[in-house]
Amino acid sequence: MTYPVNLDIKPDVHAFFDPATNTISYVVKDPASTACAIVDSVMDIDYAAGRISFDHADEMINYVRANNLTLEWLIETHVHADHLSAAPYIQKQLGGKIGIGRNITVVQDTFGKVFNEGTEFQRDGSQFDRLFDDGDTYAIGAMQCFAMHTPGHTPACMTHVMGNAAFVGDTLFMPDGGSARADFPGGDAGELYDSIQKVLSLPDETRLFMCHDYGPNGRDIMWETTVAEEKANNIHVGGGKTREDFIKFRTERDAQLDMPKLIIPSLQVNMRGGDLPPADDEGNRFLKVPVNGL
Ligand SMILES: [Fe+2]
Repeated sequence: MTYPVNLDIKPDVHAFFDPATNTISYVVKDPASTACAIVDSVMDIDYAAGRISFDHADEMINYVRANNLTLEWLIETHVHADHLSAAPYIQKQLGGKIGIGRNITVVQDTFGKVFNEGTEFQRDGSQFDRLFDDGDTYAIGAMQCFAMHTPGHTPACMTHVMGNAAFVGDTLFMPDGGSARADFPGGDAGELYDSIQKVLSLPDETRLFMCHDYGPNGRDIMWETTVAEEKANNIHVGGGKTREDFIKFRTERDAQLDMPKLIIPSLQVNMRGGDLPPADDEGNRFLKVPVNGL
C-alpha cells in the first residue's frame, strides 16, 4: 500500500489534555480554510457515582466556536478502553461525521458477547457515519487526509494522517513511554510491532501526535514527537529492536498490567460510537458489569 503523504500541508493542531484519563484530544484545522476535525474526544465520568458530564468536550466545543471553525469530522483512532468518547455529544452541537476503522465490527462482536448484548445491539458499525479501510482518503476542507490500518492494540486501530501530522492512537507513546499494550481481546503484540513499523515508515519529519501520555519518570506531559525521534529513541521499538524482542517484552509486560480503571464503561459506550446503552421505559440508562468476563 502506498499512502498519499503530503508534508507540505501543515495543519494547526490544538491539544486538549484530560488529566483524569491522561488522554490527549485534538482539534486539527485545515490551513487553507476554517474546516477542522476533532480526534479522540473525551466524555467525563465519575464511575463510582455513575455520573457523566461534558466539561472536557465543552472546552473543545467552545474552542471550535470561538475560532469560527466548521467541524467536518470526529475521528476515533480506535475503541478506547480507558476513556469514554464524547463524539455524539459534540456532533449534536457542531455537526460533522463520526469515523472509525472498519474492524469496529470485530470489536463489536467480541464485546457484544462479553457484555451479553441482545440483538438490538448492531454489530455492523452502523453507529458510525464512516468506516475506514486501510488507505482510505477523506478531506478536511481542502486538506486531503488518509487512514492507515495499524492493529495490534485492538483490531480496529487506525492512524490518521492529516498533512504533516499523524495521529497514532494507541500504537506508540512518546519515545520514553514506548508502546501501547496488546493484551486486550483481539490484540496482538506481533501485529502491533508491524503496525508501529508502518507508522515509522512515514517520512522522518512527520509530526506524531499521541493519544496518551503518562509523564514517565516525573517529566511534564508531552504529546508531540516525530518519526525520526521515535525511530532513534523509542524505548520499546527504537534503535532497531527486533520483532521477537518486542513480542517477548510486550507479552511479559502486559501480563503484569491491571485493567484500565474505566474499561467496563468505556467499552460499552465506545462500541456504540460514544452513545450510552438505550434507555429503559422510564428513560433511565444503565451500564453492566460482566463478572469475570474480562
Ligand atoms: Fe486504547
